[in-house]
Amino acid sequence: MKVAIIGQGYVGLTIAAFASKHYQVIGYDNNSKIVDQLNSGISHIEGVESSLIEKAVASGNYLASSQSTDIAGSDVVVIAVPTPLTKDRKPDLTYIKSACKTIAESLIGSALIINESTSFPGTIRDFIKPLIEKLSPIKIEHLYAISPERVDPGRTDWDQKNTPRLFAGLTPEASKRTREFYSTFCDNLVEVSSPEVAEAAKLFENTFRQVNIALVNEFSQIANALGISVHETLEAANTKPYGFMKFNPSAGVGGHCIPVDPSYLAYVAAGKGVPATFIERANQVNLEMPKYIVSRVKSDNGGSLKGKSVQVIGIAYKPNVADVRETPAELVIAELVAQGAIVSWHDPVVKSWHGVESTDLGGADIAIVVTLHDVMDRAKVTASAPYVFDTTGKLTGVKGL
Ligand SMILES: NC(=O)c1ccc[n+]([C@@H]2O[C@H](COP(=O)([O-])OP(=O)(O)OC[C@H]3O[C@@H](n4cnc5c(N)ncnc54)[C@H](O)[C@@H]3O)[C@@H](O)[C@H]2O)c1
Repeated sequence: MKVAIIGQGYVGLTIAAFASKHYQVIGYDNNSKIVDQLNSGISHIEGVESSLIEKAVASGNYLASSQSTDIAGSDVVVIAVPTPLTKDRKPDLTYIKSACKTIAESLIGSALIINESTSFPGTIRDFIKPLIEKLSPIKIEHLYAISPERVDPGRTDWDQKNTPRLFAGLTPEASKRTREFYSTFCDNLVEVSSPEVAEAAKLFENTFRQVNIALVNEFSQIANALGISVHETLEAANTKPYGFMKFNPSAGVGGHCIPVDPSYLAYVAAGKGVPATFIERANQVNLEMPKYIVSRVKSDNGGSLKGKSVQVIGIAYKPNVADVRETPAELVIAELVAQGAIVSWHDPVVKSWHGVESTDLGGADIAIVVTLHDVMDRAKVTASAPYVFDTTGKLTGVKGL
């Protein structure tokens, strides 16, 4: 069976690594630099070892390509392209549109088209299917399904094999073929009654995280005002064996999912005239955390940061990945600059960001720890500046949330 995966990023390459053990996989990506790297056996994604890609390329089961003609003859096409927000925080389906164009123009035979990109309910039925049919130069009846991706980059205990996978086809035949496709590399497939349920479940999972993170971020401010430790209080609450789930305070949310997906849900809610107040308030609380953190640092440092050197430690949005999309570190830096501080950053995992290289650890008046990677020596981070503010809750003997 020939499988084309459109987009070879965090989601697409992860699927390609598993699928190429069973199928002939074309990893289609319009970034030719990524394609060249992959064909030389180099992975650009944490959690997908280069040795796996090297082996898959050598076996002849995996070929990365920027040539849309390589998609022709595929039995299954998986869409795994970005679904970000526009500047006014509305769903941006530009990449999906462009993937649909590639599919429509390249497929000459009928295929099963599965969307793994996160989007709002109705995307496969009312957007992807009609668009491919409209752009296709010939009339073909494809099968359509959705299977939202749940990969957590950098995580090793839950992967493609053991993480339950939701799916639904637009027709019973599409559902059957989708089950057959994933069952070779996923142990637990959960079929739901419609694609819209699968699409909405994915958005709700991430909204649940977004709202709870905002709640604990708000609580960290209340705890500080009360003069108690937020971390000790959370540990205490967490001794309850039922009805409580612990979330940790932080500088905010980042990555391609938690800050983005809830806005997709809010968008469809608005279209139906239903309020999405929790989502909007949670967004606001999380986006304001960097300002709160900088205000704490400022008041601990004589009420002004003007002319003071500040090193932001860890700029990836979470530990052990090089992903800086929507990272709260960016807002922390912007606020520090607005306060007149001289800002540098240190991140041994990200290394280079906005054309600037990571600076060596230490040497500033103030350090703010946003993300603590495992490769960072905690004792060295703790001693990196005369004043250290820790947003991660992992350092002892320093100021922090
Ligand atoms: N990263 C995650 O942890 C995660 C988890 C679950 C779901 N998702 C969802 O999966 C989707 C993909 O996310 P990602 O993190 O893999 O993105 P990514 O940015 O890591 O990768 C996307 C890839 O698609 C390529 N691309 C863009 N437009 C293309 C086109 N028209 N044709 C071919 N290639 C194209 C890009 O060059 C890039 O390599 C998004 O909808 C995201 O919300 C992501």
